[in-house]
Amino acid sequence: MQTIIIENGKDKVDVLYHQDIDNLKKEFSLRSKSIFVIDHKVFQNKQLKDALVGSEENIFLIKDPELNKSFKVLEKILEFFHSKKLNRNDTIFAVGGGAVTDLAAFAASIFKRGINLTLIPTSLLAQVDATIGGKTGINFHGIKNLIGSFYNPKKIIICTGFLSSLNDQEYLNGFSEIIKHSILKSSDECLNLIENSEKINSREETFLRELIERSLKIKTNVISQDFKEKGQRKFLNFGHTFAHGIEYANKENPVLHGHAVHIGMQMATEFSIQKKIISMEDYQICKDLFGLFGYDFTKIKLNAEEIFQAMKLDKKNDSDKVTLILLKSIGSPVAVEVDDENELLSFLQEFIDNFER
Ligand SMILES: NC(=O)c1ccc[n+]([C@@H]2O[C@H](COP(=O)([O-])OP(=O)(O)OC[C@H]3O[C@@H](n4cnc5c(N)ncnc54)[C@H](O)[C@@H]3O)[C@@H](O)[C@H]2O)c1
Repeated sequence: MQTIIIENGKDKVDVLYHQDIDNLKKEFSLRSKSIFVIDHKVFQNKQLKDALVGSEENIFLIKDPELNKSFKVLEKILEFFHSKKLNRNDTIFAVGGGAVTDLAAFAASIFKRGINLTLIPTSLLAQVDATIGGKTGINFHGIKNLIGSFYNPKKIIICTGFLSSLNDQEYLNGFSEIIKHSILKSSDECLNLIENSEKINSREETFLRELIERSLKIKTNVISQDFKEKGQRKFLNFGHTFAHGIEYANKENPVLHGHAVHIGMQMATEFSIQKKIISMEDYQICKDLFGLFGYDFTKIKLNAEEIFQAMKLDKKNDSDKVTLILLKSIGSPVAVEVDDENELLSFLQEFIDNFER
């Protein structure tokens, strides 16, 4: 077990690493009253169930978390907190992927204006991305994360033992954020991924744990400088404007966010070379990195016109123009406004025509 303290906005957050789920038992028994909001699928884990023996009546389970990241379920959680006579010194444990941690953290942030919160992310995406940065929220009127707050947990517990039950594509879904953080940081980070691709694909425990920690530090450094997303934090959207376009264009058959981000990062990198702002050497490193892992893109529909139209609607664009995060070099992202929409549309078409799945 190891603890690091990260600066998250004005708060300090303890991040603990455990390998074994068994170790959570100690964490759960540290407090006078604990309430658990847990992903239904994750709750099937026997070690987790054992660690929770005696706390059964304080558990609220969430099925189909993304569908239930809603006002209706939020209200039920708040009713549950109320029925348990929670006060501000009690603790909420949110255990699950990013949908459960976002939902439970939002509930914790508004009940009695904020209750102690511990996040236990169980998907790779939640471990390297969703639980860091204090964003909480629910979906509303079909729009993702429309309602929410900024609220930090007191503690984040990363337990790599949970990752073994993720299927390969769910694992890669989270791995896209590790690729993104590495590209935003340095070519050394990217080369580390390239050289260790076998360990990554076989989910070698020690290497993965180290990778999660490095990735968290990169995101934390960005966020500690820009908690409310006014400057640097926008670079974390590398690949995301394209990805939101892809996700929107596939809304009838939703695609995994990390898969859309992976294609989005490829698009951003190709657009950077087309605009002649990245060197050929850095471009090649990114290309090598993108090609090494077993992403299954076969079911993703890529239609240039639909992606282009959706990009224009992207909520993160504050100006009239589409803003893209491109690369001056690995480790040096830059926000670029698109002046010529026709150029972007033709680029998308050409990218899609040459895209190998
Ligand atoms: N707050 C933030 O900064 C932030 C950042 C990125 C994403 N998010 C949010 O996170 C969510 C996406 O995260 P996610 O991919 O974890 O989604 P998720 O919570 O929907 O989990 C994906 C699937 O994996 C299952 N799952 C979770 N842990 C598992 C495990 N250990 N073994 C087997 N199955 C497991 C879940 O039941 C679900 O079916 C979205 O709602 C997104 O908006 C938030």
